[in-house]
Amino acid sequence: MEGTRSITFRDGSPGIVRPISSQDRQAFVEGFESLSEESRFRRFFFNKKTLTESDLERLSNPDGVNHLAYGVAAIEEDGSETPISVGHCFRNGNTTLAEVAIVTADLWQGNGAGFELLQSLKTGSLAAGIDQWIAVLLSDNTPMRRLIEKVVGSPALSKDNGNIIEAVYQLR
Ligand SMILES: CC(C)(COP(=O)(O)OP(=O)(O)OC[C@H]1O[C@@H](n2cnc3c(N)ncnc32)[C@H](O)[C@@H]1OP(=O)(O)O)[C@@H](O)C(=O)NCCC(=O)NCCS
Repeated sequence: MEGTRSITFRDGSPGIVRPISSQDRQAFVEGFESLSEESRFRRFFFNKKTLTESDLERLSNPDGVNHLAYGVAAIEEDGSETPISVGHCFRNGNTTLAEVAIVTADLWQGNGAGFELLQSLKTGSLAAGIDQWIAVLLSDNTPMRRLIEKVVGSPALSKDNGNIIEAVYQLR
């Protein structure tokens, strides 16, 4: 499938990045259930307990134009895949700006999945005519800020609303 590529995690183990499809619905359910409260809060900004049917519908049906989504999976020794990280870009109306959001399973954080995911989201965004990202983050979310800056550089604009930061990044 276009947009699929093999990767190596920081610990040397193999993985894959590929576009999300409606077949990943169950992986969303299981992935969400495995997340710690802190990771859920950092991703959704409230103590979200479950993904609703409408969340699942929205997250697992990217159209490649207004919604891009990629997943990272670990390749196990028997060749099977374990989903560990997912990222989205949601285009803001009819603009070239998209909101970016990602999450990695707690046990896998810090192993390079987020970096690979953002690289694919950046390539996919530019191909879809998206040239700016907005990230809405808790202001203490240093891992995400550092990660995004590693992939696209410092923000062109940043608005601090107390405990939430909205930062805009140029992709070109
Ligand atoms: C932010 C997040 C997506 C990064 O994903 P990841 O797969 O861990 O990313 P990487 O492994 O490529 O690491 C990126 C950087 O963050 C650091 N990092 C990742 N998780 C961390 C953690 N829990 N605590 C401290 N640092 C962390 C890594 O060490 C790395 O920094 P470095 O390159 O300076 O060493 C992940 O921590 C996460 O899912 N957090 C909860 C959800 C969230 O905050 N989403 C962003 C808002 S939408």
